[in-house]
Amino acid sequence: MTKLKERLLYTDKDPADDRSRMRAVANNLILHLHPTKVPAPALKWTYTWGLGGISATLTLVLLITGVLLMFRYDASVERAYTSIQNLETQVTFGALIRGLHHWSANLLIVTTFLHLIRVFLTGGFKQGRTTNWLVGVVLLLLVVAFNFTGYLLPWDQLAFWAITVGTSLLGYVPVFGGAISNFLLAGPDVGQGALRNFYAIHVAVLPAIMILLMSYHFWKVRKDGGISQPIPAPTEDKRPSRVERLTTIPHLVQREFAAAVVLITAVTIFAMLVPPPLEELANPIHPPNPAKAAWYFMGLQELLLHMHPLAAMLLPGIALAGIAAIPYWDKREEDIGVYFRSKIGTGTALIGAILGVALPPVLVVIDEYWLDLPSMMPGVSTLISNGFVPLALSLGGLAAIYSLFRVVGRANRGEATVGLFVFLMVSLVMLTIIGVFFRGANMALVMPF
Ligand code: HEM
Repeated sequence: MTKLKERLLYTDKDPADDRSRMRAVANNLILHLHPTKVPAPALKWTYTWGLGGISATLTLVLLITGVLLMFRYDASVERAYTSIQNLETQVTFGALIRGLHHWSANLLIVTTFLHLIRVFLTGGFKQGRTTNWLVGVVLLLLVVAFNFTGYLLPWDQLAFWAITVGTSLLGYVPVFGGAISNFLLAGPDVGQGALRNFYAIHVAVLPAIMILLMSYHFWKVRKDGGISQPIPAPTEDKRPSRVERLTTIPHLVQREFAAAVVLITAVTIFAMLVPPPLEELANPIHPPNPAKAAWYFMGLQELLLHMHPLAAMLLPGIALAGIAAIPYWDKREEDIGVYFRSKIGTGTALIGAILGVALPPVLVVIDEYWLDLPSMMPGVSTLISNGFVPLALSLGGLAAIYSLFRVVGRANRGEATVGLFVFLMVSLVMLTIIGVFFRGANMALVMPF
């Protein structure tokens, strides 16, 4: 045996050395993402509910399954639909991979939305975390953009008409709406140009921005000293008490790993049991009735049934700008890390939730059957009677709710903002439920059962 062969076949290295080297590399990677020690209260499951980590895991699942789908998907109007059919019927695990991609994408919208709510409710945007809050708002918009651009790709009836409705909403965005819609569709209607553009944005532009922003988001959590914490009460001798700190490995990593395993198993089982929808091939001359937007835009579509499109776009736009501006409004740092800020905040949140559940359905029914603003203001343009008037009434209503918390409930700025925020979020959920389940043919109100 030559010396070289001998060296290749026999080694005096202890395999345990290799394992410990691999462990060192893994630990090093983990400690690039996390600090070496974390405060014990930050590990409490009921503080973060793991929502940021769950969103990150789902994004990873989406990236992996998305790359796999790219091997078989064909972004042409003649072949897109059949390529999905072939993927489902002729490719080993093709249906499962599509299912995983589809359900993870939908779940990601929910978990990102809930993560935003958790961060807001615990004041996680305070103590220098404003930038990360703003980055988070952009991440949420990116998640929605990912879902929206992916929706068209199967090129079935559902995809075609949801995107036709969705892009027609875009056309009403003030100033840039028309240009954005023209750019996206590469023409006046949804066709080959739109499919090509949506595909390019979905598989190249958005992932690149998402990876960059998400890396920054994680780095910033670390840079800001880890996730937010309640300020510990001072000790009896008035000195600030010290919070117990635990090592990231194994305490945090074990929890993260367990959560990721449970999540991926649950999504896989769901994807195996519930196949993602695939309707008939897109038919541009036969719209389904009702033609609905994707479920996460149904709240917006519901608003459009009650207001001039410009007002229906401005209202959520103003709400989003308000959400982005929260760190500049609610600056009190003493209540950081405490759910709802205080007892009063818990009260305003409860009232906000009750109003959010009750008011939107009542207003929808009143507007559907009795209220007709344009006929009450003859001679006035509908932009005013059905646009600026309901917009002003809605904003006035929000201001009234906030003032009620401040004056009657004696809430401070933060506590009143909690009530208003909860009201807005619950209202959005209610409008979405009404749009998804209670709208039938011609978008008339119907009972779903
Ligand atoms: C794909 C979307 C997102 C991912 C993957 C993500 C991931 C994470 C993770 C892993 C954490 C630390 C642990 C945790 O809080 O659960 C975190 C914290 C944070 N996130 Fe996100 N996030 C996303 C979207 C958002 C959104 C929409 C917002 C708000 C607008 C946001 C704002 C923040 C802030 C301010 C922190 C620090 C919270 C604190 O210190 O309590 N993130 N994010």
